[in-house]
Amino acid sequence: MTPTDDHDWWRTAVIYQVYPRSFADADGDGTGDLRGITGRLDHVAEVGADAIWLSPFYPSPQADGGYDVADYRAVDPMYGTLADADALIDRAHELQLRVVVDLVPNHCSDRHERFVAALAAGPGSPERGMFHFRDGRGVDGELPPNDWTSMFEGPAWTRVTESDGTPGQWYLHLFAPEQPDWNWDDERVHAEFATTLRFWLDRGVDGFRVDVCDAIVKAPGLPDWPHTTHGVVEPVEGVMPPMWDQEGIHDVFREWRRILDEYDGQRILCAEAWLPPERAARIVRSDEMHQAFNFAYLSLPWDASAVRENVDVSLRANDAVGAPTTWVLSNHDVMRHASRYGYDGPVELEAGVGADDPQPDRALGLRRARAATLLMLGLPGSAYLYQGEELGLPEATALPDTVRQDPIWERSGHRIRGRDGCRVPLPWTADGPSFGFSSSADPWLPQPTDFGSYAADVQQADDDSTLAMYRRALDTRRSLGLGSGSMTWLPSPDDVLTWSNGAVVVVGNFGTDPVPLPVGEVLVASVPDAAADGVLAGGSAVWLRVDDQG
Ligand code: NOJ
Repeated sequence: MTPTDDHDWWRTAVIYQVYPRSFADADGDGTGDLRGITGRLDHVAEVGADAIWLSPFYPSPQADGGYDVADYRAVDPMYGTLADADALIDRAHELQLRVVVDLVPNHCSDRHERFVAALAAGPGSPERGMFHFRDGRGVDGELPPNDWTSMFEGPAWTRVTESDGTPGQWYLHLFAPEQPDWNWDDERVHAEFATTLRFWLDRGVDGFRVDVCDAIVKAPGLPDWPHTTHGVVEPVEGVMPPMWDQEGIHDVFREWRRILDEYDGQRILCAEAWLPPERAARIVRSDEMHQAFNFAYLSLPWDASAVRENVDVSLRANDAVGAPTTWVLSNHDVMRHASRYGYDGPVELEAGVGADDPQPDRALGLRRARAATLLMLGLPGSAYLYQGEELGLPEATALPDTVRQDPIWERSGHRIRGRDGCRVPLPWTADGPSFGFSSSADPWLPQPTDFGSYAADVQQADDDSTLAMYRRALDTRRSLGLGSGSMTWLPSPDDVLTWSNGAVVVVGNFGTDPVPLPVGEVLVASVPDAAADGVLAGGSAVWLRVDDQG
């Protein structure tokens, strides 16, 4: 059964990201799996999401948490079987949850059969043409073909040993060496991905979140680029880096869009592209993708004027192309927002935190995170949630370095800890081995000992919990149509944002002192004591129903 076919469901959808390795483990091996997810989908439906997005569950050596895909059209045995994927999709649809899966078109795994064949086939072969193989520079080709660096540190090129045992060509990998980049100038790559899209569309998925989609086409000739890129990619002296946001990406998106449009219902594409809103908006023109993540929004500090500016720019850019704006605060690549906002000042999103580093202020972080979520859900458009944020889950900031799995930890010579801290398995129950994540007491990443206090079952029974706030907010958002509304700023003091969205006035106090509130009925408050006696406490937010919004 497919969900009721609401027109343009994706324009207002709240999409809940599931990281399969860490959501729920049904077979007791300490790693999450598809049956575990299916068994816990009721939770997602009860939170009030409209859809789930599943990070990759395809066969993978896990050199980069599954973003190194060895086979795009199968399920890794550690996650289950294709039948389990079918059962998951069916159950989600029964619960009126749509299902978005991950498409990873920039690179595959070095174990993908096409790459294995390319290695075996040798220089100049058609097999190598599906990837970016080049001869090296220097007298004996001992230098990489250009100066690009990998997103995971070190050169973006690895030299292969040819079948005769001699050092040979180099191949390009914008990420880990185990993730060779596809060459999208080759028609066979287009055909591969068309087949993959159809494979999952035929199985009933409702869309794709498209990994680093802005990198698939490189500038002709792969010119040198001596800069490194982290976070939102900005042009340097007016020029976009030759590996990001090249004009040719749009033709590929149009091609994919035509495939999706052949299918019934509304199947969607969501761009993972760390671009400023104005550039990201070009990806969501009417014949390209449907949505693009708003990473500029995710990257904001706890600062009223920065939020206001981003909201204005984002809405303007997306309105201009008729696309919904999306909002997101957390995902599997960045420090959880409940911890991010527990620091004063800017935080490196993907760098990770170790036990000896300055630790976030937990209470402050959670307080602001709840407010930030309520503000986000009060904006028109679509919003993405990351598993565990509905529990107010903090980043694991004291993981032993010995358990780290993010490739950047090794690649950076143990300088950058990376993203494991936001990928720790979820706590479902206050007690039990791995807090209900698994029957094993040994999950693939260890959970902090106090994770039980965040467990879903504890929060279920508490009307003041973060979980209760998320449910109330999503229920109200849906019943009052906030996702399809439009917002108008209302006057407010410094450090405060106030806007109306239909019948609701949203107020957020980024400062520490209480501020006067408009008179109105409190619909949802970020924390129980936020709005009382006509004032809004510092670091909190509220939704009010106000009769006269003047
Ligand atoms: C973005 C994904 O979200 C991240 O986890 C991954 O490491 C890179 N793309 C490379 O696929």
